[in-house]
Amino acid sequence: MRYKVTKAIFPVAGLGTRFLPATKSIPKEILTLVDRPLIQYAIDEARAAGITEFVFVTSRGKSALEDYFDRAPELESALKEKNKSELLTLLEATNMESGAIAYVRQNQALGLGHAVWCARHLIGDEPFAVILPDDVITGEEPCLKQMVEAYAELGGNMVAAMEVATDKASAYGILDVPPSVSRCLPVRGMVEKPAAGTAPSNLAIIGRYILTPQVLRNLDGQQRGAGGEIQLTDAIAQEIRNSDNVHGYRFSGQRFDCGSKAGYLQATVAFALSRPDLRDELEAYLQELLATRQAAQ
Ligand code: G1P
Repeated sequence: MRYKVTKAIFPVAGLGTRFLPATKSIPKEILTLVDRPLIQYAIDEARAAGITEFVFVTSRGKSALEDYFDRAPELESALKEKNKSELLTLLEATNMESGAIAYVRQNQALGLGHAVWCARHLIGDEPFAVILPDDVITGEEPCLKQMVEAYAELGGNMVAAMEVATDKASAYGILDVPPSVSRCLPVRGMVEKPAAGTAPSNLAIIGRYILTPQVLRNLDGQQRGAGGEIQLTDAIAQEIRNSDNVHGYRFSGQRFDCGSKAGYLQATVAFALSRPDLRDELEAYLQELLATRQAAQ
C-alpha cells in the first residue's frame, strides 16, 4: 500500500538577502505578486494537491508569516461593519484551521537539507512533500497535484524537473537522466550546483519534491556539500544508491524564479496581465512604455 501525501514542508527560514532592504523587516515570502503574498500561492498549490498538514521551517524575524495565516478579528469586524463582503471572502481564504500549520525553527542557516531535517519530528514515518515558495508555478493543473498523481503509481522519491539553459545549470540541482522525452524519468544521479561545463544534463530540479522518510534519516548524518551547505539534493541522491526509485517529473506549467529580482518582476507582470481587473490598463501602459523607449533609441 502506498501512503497518501498529506504533509508538506515549506522552508521559509532564508534571509532573503537578494531583496534587501525590503527584507530587513518583511519576510521574503510575504512579498506580493499583485496582491497575494508568495506564500499564499505555495499554500494554495499544496491544498489543491491534498495536503492538510503544513510545516513551516522558519527563523528569527518571520513572525509576519505566522500572523498572515491567523485570523484578523479587528479587520474582519471592520469589514463586516462596512458590508465589504467580497473582501471578507478574500480574507477567509487566508485563514488556516487551528493546528493545520506547525512552525519549527531552523536556528542556524546550514542549507536546504538542514532546513528540511528540522521538520523531521513532525513528519514521522510518512512520505511528505517539500515546496520552495520562491518557485512559483502556474498552469492548468497545479504542479504538486500532477506529481502526487504520478507518485501514486510510482512511489519512491520524486522531484519536479525543468530544462534550463546550459549556462544557468550551475544555479540548480541537475539530474543525470537517460535521454527521453517522457514526463517521468528515472534518475541515475543528481548534483547540486555543478561547476560550469560539468552538468550531466540541463534538466534542473525545481522546488517541488515528494520524498520518503528515509531522506530525513539520510540527512541525520549528511555532510556539507555545494556552497558549504547541507544539501537536500545530496540526501535524495543517496536514495538512488539505496532504493533506485527516484524520478524526475517534467511538470506542465510555467515556473517563475521569484528568488531573483528579474524572475519576481516577470511573475508580477504575468500575474497582473492574467487579471481581468488589471489587464487592459497595464497592457496599454506597457505598450506605450516600450514604444517610447524604442522611439528614444
Ligand atoms: C534549491 C535547490 C536546487 C534547486 C533549486 C530550485 O536551490 O537546492 O537543487 O534546483 O532550489 O529553485 P536554491 O535556489 O535554494 O539555491
